[in-house]
Amino acid sequence: FMKVFWMVLIFLILGNFFAFQVHTVTLIPGDGIGPEISTAVMKIFEAAKVPIQWEERNVTAIKGPGGKWMIPPEAKESMDRSKIGLKGPLKTPIAAGHPSMNLLLRKTFDLYANVRPCVSIEGYKTPYTDVDLVTIRENTEGEYSGIEHVIVDGVVQSIKLITEQASRRIAEYAFEYARNNQRSSVTAVHKANIMRMSDGLFLRKCREVAENYKDVKFTEMYLDTVCLNMVQDPTQFDVLVMPNLYGDILSDLCAGLIGGLGVTPSGNIGANGVAIFESVHGTAPDIAGKDLANPTALLLSAVMMLRHMGLHADAKKIETACYDTIRDKKVLTKDLGGNSKCSEFTTEICRRVQDMD
Ligand SMILES: NC(=O)c1ccc[n+]([C@@H]2O[C@H](COP(=O)([O-])OP(=O)(O)OC[C@H]3O[C@@H](n4cnc5c(N)ncnc54)[C@H](O)[C@@H]3O)[C@@H](O)[C@H]2O)c1
Repeated sequence: FMKVFWMVLIFLILGNFFAFQVHTVTLIPGDGIGPEISTAVMKIFEAAKVPIQWEERNVTAIKGPGGKWMIPPEAKESMDRSKIGLKGPLKTPIAAGHPSMNLLLRKTFDLYANVRPCVSIEGYKTPYTDVDLVTIRENTEGEYSGIEHVIVDGVVQSIKLITEQASRRIAEYAFEYARNNQRSSVTAVHKANIMRMSDGLFLRKCREVAENYKDVKFTEMYLDTVCLNMVQDPTQFDVLVMPNLYGDILSDLCAGLIGGLGVTPSGNIGANGVAIFESVHGTAPDIAGKDLANPTALLLSAVMMLRHMGLHADAKKIETACYDTIRDKKVLTKDLGGNSKCSEFTTEICRRVQDMD
């Protein structure tokens, strides 16, 4: 009897510890509408009593030793500690001479997988219904490896780099994602008929990894066929995994199917357990500071983050409140066809979240 008693007691103590554990998340509010939509997310999280404490950090590029561009050490240290970040949009000043901050973040934390779930939003009409797919883009190499040079005047060469290691890593992530998110199939998107060696290697690694995930259906499809089929009937797709350039284009195309970047969440998964979730729209300088921004994309990215952290109940609560608000059509921001302010839309989601308790 005593043995059972002690086991139950330890179980209860551990259960309570994990239930009440407060997680730290690095918040990068960003520029333009970034601070407004970040405030909206923080308010909704507070209303839902999510066990998260925010560590706010600014990520303006600075020059480090040897003149190398880097993100400020306070931001890097915070991310190294928390491992999880939520990020608003960052402006890329054309004349400032430093690289894109998004690129710098990607490099600093080796954010190798870009994940974008595209799910139709009831009440927000687009030409498509019942879209429910996820694009997983290899984020570190391919055409974006930055190796370009002039061979002779008038002739430039750009190198598409594909490695066995990065291809295997992204394929493994895609299959793990499918398994952990109750998804039934993974489609590898490629052009191995033309780029036999580079896309051929990518595809071979996908096939090899698929062997270890017999519970997930594996298919392969040419990029052009995917595009054709996607605009005809996107409901036939589930998880799609692809090299960098194809992913860049296809993920925006898929966002268009559900209403655009203002409602599409995104996550960047990195090595060593680091992950940064972000809205993929820009800083919207035309409406910044006017309380007109739609915080949905950042909020749904934050919901994705909660699922990544295993906080499924909190994720469901906030997601439902957000979708219900949009379906109801009474309080909508301008871009969603309404005339409410960002703060009014936020208050409505908070009210619904609190009503669920
Ligand atoms: N992920 C990022 O950090 C990211 C992505 C794209 C652009 N940018 C940067 O953003 C700046 C502006 O870029 P842009 O004008 O090409 O694109 P943008 O996405 O900022 O704006 C395009 C249009 O969409 C609207 N819009 C965007 N997000 C909205 C939201 N949440 N709610 C309501 N309306 C919204 C804007 O008002 C604008 O009319 C540039 O400096 C660019 O480098 C950053």
